Amino acid sequence: MTQLTILRYPDSRLMKPSEPVEVFDEALKKLVEDMGETMYKAPGVGLAAPQVNVHRRIIVVDTSEKKDDLKVLINPEIVSLSEEKKVYEEGCLSLPHIYENVERPAQVKVRAQDIHGGWFELEGDGLLAVCLQHEIDHLKGTVFVDYLSPMKRNRIKSKLLKEEREIKKAAAAQNSGKNRKKGRR
Ligand code: NI
Repeated sequence: MTQLTILRYPDSRLMKPSEPVEVFDEALKKLVEDMGETMYKAPGVGLAAPQVNVHRRIIVVDTSEKKDDLKVLINPEIVSLSEEKKVYEEGCLSLPHIYENVERPAQVKVRAQDIHGGWFELEGDGLLAVCLQHEIDHLKGTVFVDYLSPMKRNRIKSKLLKEEREIKKAAAAQNSGKNRKKGRR
């Protein structure tokens, strides 16, 4: 299994809509396994394929306490949403350390295909309902901060861009250090 690289907001590839999966083959199975591993290692409760730069309608979620209930949803569609809404503090693996309140329907019913292409339905409330809606949003190119005010979103964007610059600078410094050592030999 391979741990995949998760794109960071505001990478424009996160805003690109995903295409339906049409072929249920070994490559899809491998991708789903890698997505599961990447999500557990992060650690997170959900991951959508576009977050690992694969623009296909695939999500994995596991909101269980023991982290032993991986749900794989291929070509998921929302069948129904409850009238009742709930506010939940959301986070996202593409927006490290950012948590904000988002209001969404409290219950959701989803239809999706499994790894072999068979259709099934899944109903969820609580964290599972939030997670399913959040991940299906990713397939449309929507991230949870899109529900916040432009001012709040811009503040988050600047913060993450600044962090990314610092990470790159640190990596470059480490690399030039390594090269210098090599040069001294
Ligand atoms: Ni997310």
